[in-house]
Amino acid sequence: MNYNKKTIMDVDVAGKKILLRCDFNVPQDKETHAITSDKRIVASLPTIRYLLERGAAVIACSHLGKPKGQWKDSLTLRPVAEHLSQLLGQEVIFAQDIVGEDAKAKAAALQGGQIMLLENLRFDPREEKNDPEFARELASMAELYVSDAFGTVHRAHASTAGVAAFLPAVSGLLVARELEIMGGAKVSDKIGVINNLLEKADTIIIGGGMAYTFARAQGGSIGKSLCEPDKLDYALQMIQKAKDRGVQLLLPTDTVAAAEFSADADSLVVPTDAIPDDMEGLDIGPETIRTFCAAVRGAGTVVWNGPMGVFEFEKFAAGTRAMAQALADSGAITIVGGGDSAAAVEQMGFADKITHISTGGGASLEFLEGIELPGVACLLDK
Ligand code: 3PG
Repeated sequence: MNYNKKTIMDVDVAGKKILLRCDFNVPQDKETHAITSDKRIVASLPTIRYLLERGAAVIACSHLGKPKGQWKDSLTLRPVAEHLSQLLGQEVIFAQDIVGEDAKAKAAALQGGQIMLLENLRFDPREEKNDPEFARELASMAELYVSDAFGTVHRAHASTAGVAAFLPAVSGLLVARELEIMGGAKVSDKIGVINNLLEKADTIIIGGGMAYTFARAQGGSIGKSLCEPDKLDYALQMIQKAKDRGVQLLLPTDTVAAAEFSADADSLVVPTDAIPDDMEGLDIGPETIRTFCAAVRGAGTVVWNGPMGVFEFEKFAAGTRAMAQALADSGAITIVGGGDSAAAVEQMGFADKITHISTGGGASLEFLEGIELPGVACLLDK
């Protein structure tokens, strides 16, 4: 795939009305919905400032969570607008809708140097369907489209790919930087181009929620733990493929299980394949921590995506903390992707010891796997 795409530095943005796709899909507190890491908002600031300083009128847009086409008050982007406004030190005008009357009126009145934010794109079912009419309506508010939502460039949605059919499309500074770091000389040359993680990696470590599907697939009892029943065959195929290719696939052998999903639930360390019926796994156990950390210590490059347990609850944070520490202490090139693992690494104070913390989770993995990213493919070539 060609990543030599035009950026905002290659076009004239002065005085233009710009539709800017950001990834403001920030982690939120499960109960209060407060933003728990503003990394993705902070990461968008260079592009926003660049545009505003040149007198562009910025119509920012993003999704938040997975409202699945329904209007959900808990997933409004209003708190993001407020936080962005504090970071920028200027008002961020908030539209009550996406391509409705309010958004269109505010976009029409927007002056150079001003910024507004549309409501959560995924409140409209047409966003994820990449509906051309919805894309056209989004595009109709602007003269130029800027893709800066690195975390979402692997999605072919109306706001990430569809709009490019209606507007000249270029990347923002964040997308350009992520592609350069992840794909450029700095890291990718050292790890080689990873077409497929299983085909290329020496070791794959699976922890967190996904591990229970693997345990179940192998006939284990996993109690009330997370499980994707339609992925059991896939899990077995992965295990077989790893064996065939001589890839070390590490799965948890012990688990910290609890009777309920809460911060102070009583817990117990049990074998991962013998979790009591009334309990669920919420973190990897001490034996697993030792095995996983030893594997990280010997690695040349580690790509980490997703926490090992429910690290938001201190009691179940040990596995994630140990992995973050192991990455920080390793001499390896370390890439952390995914909102939750990035938030964990930051909260635990290891951020400055990691080679690159990506704002993309799924996007960074798909990029490293060599899969075409629709949100990048749609941009103008240099
Ligand atoms: C992410 O958090 O990985 C991106 O914002 C994409 O979100 P999605 O997985 O819901 O499409």
